[in-house]
Amino acid sequence: MRLLWSLLPLVPTVLSQATNGSESLIWGAYRPNLYFGLRPRIPQSLMTGLIWFGTQDYQSFGKARHACDQGDGLNGYSWTTYDARDGGVQVLKDGPNNIKVTTELLKIPGGEHGGSWAARIKGEPLDVDRPSRTSFIFYAGLEGLGGLDMETDENENGIDGEVEFSGNSPELDEFTIRIVDGPDNEAVTTGSQAAAFADRIGKTHFGGYRVPAGNIWQAKEFILQDVLQHAKAILPAYQSNPGSYPDPSYVLQLSNDALSGSNLFAVQKSFDGKFQFDVLFESKSAKQKLSSTVLDEGIPALAEAYRVRFQSVFPVPESSEQESLQEFSQAITSNLIGGVGYFYGQSIVDPGFSYEWDEDDGPAESDEEGGKKVKKGARLTEPRELLTATPSRSFFPRGFYWDEGFHLLHIGEWDNDLSLEILKDWIDLIDENGWVGREQILGEEARSKVPEQFWTQVPSFANPPTLTMAVTAYIRRLKAAHGPSEQDLGMDMGLGGSQVPLRAASSPGSRYLEDPELGLSFLKSIYAPLQRHYEWFRRTQRGQLKQYGRKARSRTEAYRWRGRSEQHVLTSGMDDYPRGPPHAGELHLDLISWMGLFSRTMKEIAEYVGEEEDRVFYEGIEKAITDNIDDLHWNEKEQMYCDVSVDDDDESYYVCHRGYLSLFPLALSELPSDSPHVGAILDLIYDPKHLWSPYGLRSLSASHPEFGQGENYWKGPIWIQMNYMTLGALHTKYAAEPGPYREKAQKIYKELRQNIVDNEWVRTGYVWEQYDPLTGEGKRSHPFTGWTSLVTLILSEKY
Ligand SMILES: *[C@@H]1O[C@H](CO)[C@@H](O)[C@H](O)[C@H]1NC(C)=O
Repeated sequence: MRLLWSLLPLVPTVLSQATNGSESLIWGAYRPNLYFGLRPRIPQSLMTGLIWFGTQDYQSFGKARHACDQGDGLNGYSWTTYDARDGGVQVLKDGPNNIKVTTELLKIPGGEHGGSWAARIKGEPLDVDRPSRTSFIFYAGLEGLGGLDMETDENENGIDGEVEFSGNSPELDEFTIRIVDGPDNEAVTTGSQAAAFADRIGKTHFGGYRVPAGNIWQAKEFILQDVLQHAKAILPAYQSNPGSYPDPSYVLQLSNDALSGSNLFAVQKSFDGKFQFDVLFESKSAKQKLSSTVLDEGIPALAEAYRVRFQSVFPVPESSEQESLQEFSQAITSNLIGGVGYFYGQSIVDPGFSYEWDEDDGPAESDEEGGKKVKKGARLTEPRELLTATPSRSFFPRGFYWDEGFHLLHIGEWDNDLSLEILKDWIDLIDENGWVGREQILGEEARSKVPEQFWTQVPSFANPPTLTMAVTAYIRRLKAAHGPSEQDLGMDMGLGGSQVPLRAASSPGSRYLEDPELGLSFLKSIYAPLQRHYEWFRRTQRGQLKQYGRKARSRTEAYRWRGRSEQHVLTSGMDDYPRGPPHAGELHLDLISWMGLFSRTMKEIAEYVGEEEDRVFYEGIEKAITDNIDDLHWNEKEQMYCDVSVDDDDESYYVCHRGYLSLFPLALSELPSDSPHVGAILDLIYDPKHLWSPYGLRSLSASHPEFGQGENYWKGPIWIQMNYMTLGALHTKYAAEPGPYREKAQKIYKELRQNIVDNEWVRTGYVWEQYDPLTGEGKRSHPFTGWTSLVTLILSEKY
């Protein structure tokens, strides 16, 4: 993709070899909660965004588009091309306003401050036979130190031609922003009262505002308030005869007034039909003047280079649908990477909180400060930063621990080093006790999207340790790029990785693969915090064995999720999946299986960084866990793995609910391929009365009394990440290794993969959070290009 820059002779093509490539990740569409919002990966800095509304009537102003919102009724929006280093193309179909909007971003390296970029916003009617009248506002606001000024002369009627701003900040240094019209824009000229507004028609309008520190994220309120004030000053003159109201496009305008000392500026353009305008951000140290030509040439080149590379990294199987599947796969991958956000701010934790069945554990460790107990109650933490993918740009625009490991498996195949930058940010959140909050709601903007009862994180609560999958996948990619073949290494991990075609030499996306020294130093840098994290799990989520006289080969390895309520085990990630009643003596099958995976990851990383004693230690625990999964959780009578709890006589009993939970020992490759229990799990998977459906595996057996009941979140609906995990275990282990169940595993793998691929995404134009277990229809949030985008890895068989 770097070839692109040969088109632009002025751009330096060789980046300094001394860097690790992260400088090409400074700018991005890192405000994925917005339809289009660019910012740098800098805590307090420049934030930009796009607002638009229809001007066919006055009501549409009340539905101005800014933050992604299912309620806006868009007929789909997705990046169709997006590379974190180079930029991309997003298509948004706004049916209610009859406009197809395309946003293009081109990143242009150069200088010492994160480079420059050019963005093009263009639109065309979805239906050419209907009116398509719209007004677009682009804004830029500065948080923190520095300044922003309007260079173009102000005019109370608006501006003809280009609008220029200059600014500076400590990290970005000096920069300019120019907003330039496309060649063929048309304004509404024939609306009611055109003559009265002739001076303002076709001009670019603007506003400048002084926004208190920390509030730029609320730019939309300041800007639309200005439009509203302007309209309120005009409309009363027409009140006596409502039939004479002017056309909305003449009235819903910015004030053309910029206060001195403004730190937020807005620029507005109104159109009739097709339109185009560009925003050019020039970093002064890059010493290069941009023009619209850079987009004319750069975007088609970027889109073509992306398509070609995509075909080689994520090939789609040959079929009559190949082309549309390829397009679909490219869009979900692009929207996953275009959904990566940068967040900065405080979060809320309550170290003293615990449920009654967790109370024996004593207070959370961070509860002790200088020997004295800290009061219960929620409090704000220090501000933290996080680059993270997001499950859904509309519903869940923030970091989720449980989802992130899956996101990184996918991102790592496309841009290894981007996945490491994200992983590193998450690892940096591991506190001194080894804890990470399962939801990262950093700052006011992120909090504004979350119901208040979910704001607080508790430092004794866990979440499935999926980040370990990203570590394992990276080690596997490193070995594939350098070491001997996988067979020589006797690798038997169940998740992640496969041979990656490297980018052109020294491309910023794979430096940590090309340079084994860099790879080793990265793994060393995350080893200690990961160890802390691992020990935190073993210490705080331990299950009880001897208190209930439980017999098992290992006397230590048993686990229980803390922080469950009567109805939910949110910490397990499978919120309302049926479990027993809460009890301090419960043992959770999914958690012990995750701990098996975590031990295996620690073993691999210890081996890679040369910590032999540690390696032996982790291997021992892994073995103890495998033993105890059988000793504690296998129910011979039911022929399945189950949770365990304790009754009123303090006797242990099995809590068995057929569904995703029962799959964990297999899905995480904990069972040897010749274990007789593999056969039983495969039977459960393949039985249409239980988990098997033509659309993928159901979360709960269709024969279970609670199937489809209550909230019905994890009581039947099909989740793609669990299907992916199961497919991965089948493909890399149970269908690959010789054994009594191999043929059956192969058959199930093939059919399950086909069922997932055949589902209805192409038809609806969205991917969904989950799918109906009886009809396959999409359910809940959409677009949901978080772990549902794993379909790309399923298509290209990368596990
Ligand atoms: C790359 O270098 C930057 C700057 O030194 C650093 O902040 C970042 O963590 C490094 N990336 C990784 C993956 O280690």
